[in-house]
Amino acid sequence: MDGIVREALQGLSGIVGDRFLSDQATLVKRPTEEQLVKLLKSSPPDQGRSLEDVVKEFEDILSYGFNVNHPRFYAFVPSAASPLSWLGDVISTSFNNYAGSSESGAGICAVEESIIRWVAEKFGLPPSAGGQFVSGASLACLTALTVARDQLVEDDMRTKATAYVTEETHFCIAKTLHITGLLKQQIRTVPCNAEFQMDPESLRRAITQDIENGLKPYVVITTCGSTSTGSIDPLDAIADIAAEHGLWMHVDAAYGGSVAFCQSRRNLLQGIGRADSIAWDPHKWLFQTYGCSVVLFRDKSHPRESFATTAHFLRDVEDGYVENPFNFGIELTRPACHMRLWFSLQILGTDMIDRMVLRGFELSDLVQTELSKLSEWEIVTPSNMAVINFRFNPHGVSTEAIDDINSLVSKRMLAQNIAVVLTTRFRGVVCLRMCTINPQTTDDEIRDIIDALNRNARLISKGIID
Ligand SMILES: Cc1ncc(COP(=O)(O)O)c(C=O)c1O
Repeated sequence: MDGIVREALQGLSGIVGDRFLSDQATLVKRPTEEQLVKLLKSSPPDQGRSLEDVVKEFEDILSYGFNVNHPRFYAFVPSAASPLSWLGDVISTSFNNYAGSSESGAGICAVEESIIRWVAEKFGLPPSAGGQFVSGASLACLTALTVARDQLVEDDMRTKATAYVTEETHFCIAKTLHITGLLKQQIRTVPCNAEFQMDPESLRRAITQDIENGLKPYVVITTCGSTSTGSIDPLDAIADIAAEHGLWMHVDAAYGGSVAFCQSRRNLLQGIGRADSIAWDPHKWLFQTYGCSVVLFRDKSHPRESFATTAHFLRDVEDGYVENPFNFGIELTRPACHMRLWFSLQILGTDMIDRMVLRGFELSDLVQTELSKLSEWEIVTPSNMAVINFRFNPHGVSTEAIDDINSLVSKRMLAQNIAVVLTTRFRGVVCLRMCTINPQTTDDEIRDIIDALNRNARLISKGIID
């Protein structure tokens, strides 16, 4: 890592530096009951306190919780934020630029437009594409699905509009559809195949049936990298069906979109360029600090039709160098969250980013290789897009006992500060899940973790089964 970044991290504070730089740091730090009560009851003092005191307490507060940047943190979608993103974030926050209008943020808004153009190209969208940075994929999906509704559903058809998802669709989509006015009965859950991908024929049938029933199918929400299994829906086949019936295709690529920046794997995203809108989170697999997400539209006139606005007090900033971001999305005042990505990309370069994304694939493949050497372990969903699900499953043991063993293994790994490998449920059984997108994780760490999982599982099973 660049000396300047290391220095900045160490100089700022031991704790921040530790969280980014040290693989010895604790994986989880929980406040004691007493500390928690103190935090819950704290209110601002009448008389101000010393800076030193407050900084100390500030750091304590921030240090509680999971250390999601740790190379042995594999739960959910780990943060794996690069220290470069952190530094870019600190620098841009210190300037406190206003990214809401291009006159107020002439430099940053021009850079935002150029990054958006570059990302759209990587996804294979046409030159008509546009979009903006938002705080997370939930907001990106809300922005996109509001536009989808406005483009395709007449006001008097809103109660008849139907949307199509699968069981793998992230829960933020249900929230989004709710906010855009859909009731539960207007959302269809299309069955998946054995690989957890939307089944195109089932989608076609559901749409046809809804049309026959006088309803208004308008959007299909596909997933490119599901949170649980990394599955990618068959985007080309679904785009064909969407085109056939005049539906909007949204791609939730919050997690998987980063594969577009990895030359040897980008073929996995085949068909993403046919999307009408895409949500993508650089704060997941492109190593950015939280609050860095992108919403893209195939045709940038579409968000403008939903969001373009004006006010008398805006008359002096209406003709900026580039189009005003407030005409393309929900937010007005917003930070320049894309500048940390710009900073990281400039320093790392795209070849390094390519290798960092690829590393995630290699690590989950290694998990699978190591597990397959152990007879008592079962791969529940294979290594896919740096995600793998598995469980300890020796012969002759009841499903309930197996579930308990796997849950206890996860807890023990955490208590021993070895790794954060949390559990999930698949088709009724508990299994362990690892998402290996932190490029700082070493092969030896993975081997040691599989060893520790096995050791713990065998010890626990002796206690439980005997
Ligand atoms: C596939 C997918 N979509 C959407 C989201 C929501 O993203 P955010 O937390 O940035 O709102 C997540 C979060 O993990 C995700 O994995």
